[in-house]
Amino acid sequence: MRPIENIVILTGAGISAESGLATFRGPDGLWEGHRVEDICTPEALARDPVLVQTFYDARRAALASVEPNAAHRALARLDAGWKGELLIVTQNVDDLHERAGAQRMLHMHGELKSALCRRCGGRSEWMDTLIDGPACPACGAPGGLRPDIVFFGEMPYQMERIEAALEDADLFVSIGTSGAVYPAAGFVQTARHYGARTLELNLDPSAGSHFFDKTRIGPASRLVVQWVDSLLGG
Ligand code: OAD
Repeated sequence: MRPIENIVILTGAGISAESGLATFRGPDGLWEGHRVEDICTPEALARDPVLVQTFYDARRAALASVEPNAAHRALARLDAGWKGELLIVTQNVDDLHERAGAQRMLHMHGELKSALCRRCGGRSEWMDTLIDGPACPACGAPGGLRPDIVFFGEMPYQMERIEAALEDADLFVSIGTSGAVYPAAGFVQTARHYGARTLELNLDPSAGSHFFDKTRIGPASRLVVQWVDSLLGG
């Protein structure tokens, strides 16, 4: 078996659950009481901008009252200490990985702390609300900003970079995601196809659990710390 040099880590809402951010699916999930197509689609934004902007404004505001947990910190420690290639691909739109100190990471589903201009396509750092129709900092157009979130039916960010990393990966690790949303749900199969070992760390087995060589069940704050310690020899 080839040695582990290149690692790709996929994270989902489960890694931020112990920081106090709700996951999407299941009881108490963010999609409970909402149909995804009423919130997270370009059509929903066009039909009911108040509902969609209010939903994401509330989630952006909630970031101020949460902190990274032990799992985010462990991945940041791995990022800093790992000599080989490493890429953290998060589906999360919170900023907890970067606040923990992770650097080799990307947000494939966008970011709450960013606004996307429907006129010029510019992405601007954004901490405030969008409901009040502020002007785009890049082009000055009024009222054109939307949450910089990849809605269903839209292309996730940086897919080429992710595909290239998956092709080179020796180890693919999936943390805290239900495996319900493609293309992220298919990354395990891509990584396997190119010869990576695969590991799932999750509170419940995901939809694609059978694709992984190993699945460990438990909270991210325990499993991720143990796994990082085992890799770094800590
Ligand atoms: P989900 O809500 O679908 O799944 C969360 C997963 O985290 C579940 O498998 C839980 O068992 C697991 N989980 C919960 N608490 C955990 C803990 N403490 N430790 C470890 N695992 C835990 O969230 P995602 O899979 O991230 O897309 O959802 C994928 C995408 O669907 C999101 O990025 C979002 C959503 O619609 C967009 O908004 C574009």
